[in-house]
Amino acid sequence: MSLSFQLVLTAPASLETPLLALVLPADATLTDALAPLDAPLHGALARTLARRDFRGGRDETVLLVGGDAGVQRLLLVGRGSTPLTRTTARRAAAIAARQAAKLGMGTMHLWLPDADAAAIEGLVVGAAAGSWSYPDLQTPPPEKDRRARLTQVGVIGADLPGLQGALNAGVAIAEGQAIAKRLGQMPGNYCTPQTFVDLGQEIAQRHGMTLTVLGRAEMAAAQMGSFLCVAQGTSQEPRLVALEHRGGPADQQPIVLIGKGLCFDTGGISIKPAPEMEWMKFDMMGAAGVMGAMEAIGRLQLPVNVVGIIGSTTNMPSGEAVKPGDVVRASNGKTIEIINTDAEGRLVLADLLVYAKQFNPAVAIDAATLTGAIVIGLGHHAVGVFGPDRAVVDEVLAAGSAAGEPGWPLPMWEEYREQIKSDVADIKNTGGRAAGSITAALFLQEFVDGYPWVHLDVAGTAYSQSDLGWIPKGPTGTPVGTFVEFVRARAGR
Ligand code: BES
Ligand code: MN
Ligand code: ZN
Repeated sequence: MSLSFQLVLTAPASLETPLLALVLPADATLTDALAPLDAPLHGALARTLARRDFRGGRDETVLLVGGDAGVQRLLLVGRGSTPLTRTTARRAAAIAARQAAKLGMGTMHLWLPDADAAAIEGLVVGAAAGSWSYPDLQTPPPEKDRRARLTQVGVIGADLPGLQGALNAGVAIAEGQAIAKRLGQMPGNYCTPQTFVDLGQEIAQRHGMTLTVLGRAEMAAAQMGSFLCVAQGTSQEPRLVALEHRGGPADQQPIVLIGKGLCFDTGGISIKPAPEMEWMKFDMMGAAGVMGAMEAIGRLQLPVNVVGIIGSTTNMPSGEAVKPGDVVRASNGKTIEIINTDAEGRLVLADLLVYAKQFNPAVAIDAATLTGAIVIGLGHHAVGVFGPDRAVVDEVLAAGSAAGEPGWPLPMWEEYREQIKSDVADIKNTGGRAAGSITAALFLQEFVDGYPWVHLDVAGTAYSQSDLGWIPKGPTGTPVGTFVEFVRARAGR
């Protein structure tokens, strides 16, 4: 992330800044705290509020142009009438930073009057999200048309304990999300399974984590026939990457985070239709979420043990590819009849869930862009949350809502299991169109042995095909926040 943040204790009216973004609630009036900003503006702020040109609605903005010194531009940003939370602060800051980036501000200041620690953290995460971009593959415009990139954000705070810590936590989460989003936005010919290995190496080195990498040969030795059948059609080396953060006591059972990392999903022999297939470069957002969360957890130095495991490959058709009707054997010995080679994510996750067992998880949470059906069921606003244990599901739901990545639970009743019974193998990899997300979760459960487990279907939420206003279309950062908040809550931080 090329953006740096400072906690600023200067009175806003005394700032020297090209842009001050002032976040206000609905129907704000000119308070004594705001009044000093208005003198150099010759009353423009008071008039704007009094005329109700700016009403403070969510995402509303008005730009007031100041002089050549002091606060040169004042951007009013509405946060609506809902209570102030980390999530509402995040959204307002994202709107502000997006606007600042469009204006070509290299520096900006953010002021949310009376921000507490949670709000400060949200402002940082939001400013990073709103100004995030992936310019690597585009030729920059000629010098005269170029706008400066936003590189510095000053967050107005108060001399209160905990605000600097909150700012640092925001930066940690923002860095994690930036890593995940970058991986997501990278095309399939740039983000390959090896990219996860290289990144894993960097994260391990930066935070003193242990890294384990398996390739085709090691996975074959571990009898991961389920994962490997997905990789049959690609010449790229499939990769299983495990990162161990040992922040807790040596004998503490770890939280295990697991991610689906399909660098591209063509569907394989059961090939997907061409329209919109390019979006399947995002089929690695579960794995990207794990990597991003591990970066954030490393930066936060959370005093718990956490293991991140990702499985990465590309689902391609070829003369060698797995085909419908084939039967493969997973590393727990279970046989799987392949009905549809496009239901490949669950095949990768199956062997990862078996692999996780050796870490003796306190709990395992997997995240995957697993089913189109979850998009039909929940759309783009809720993560599908599945698990046999309601208490752990609730814990994950709480983490998701704290992170601004809300989830919604779906059932895993026995009745649905009928749909994935096979005539020739122990289980089949699809259960028909009905309840497609639930049968996918039930498939995964066959590979979970003796540890608490929650599955997150992020197919509708990990990336957006439309501009969301506060962030552009593309990767959203989900599920980094959910993972981090879950681990933080377990760590008591
Ligand atoms: N990666 C897809 C799921 C997906 C679909 C993610 C749309 C994001 C947007 C997954 O591998 C897949 O293809 N699932 C199939 C399963 C089916 C064949 C049972 C699906 O959902 O169509
Ligand atoms: Mn697929
Ligand atoms: Zn897929």
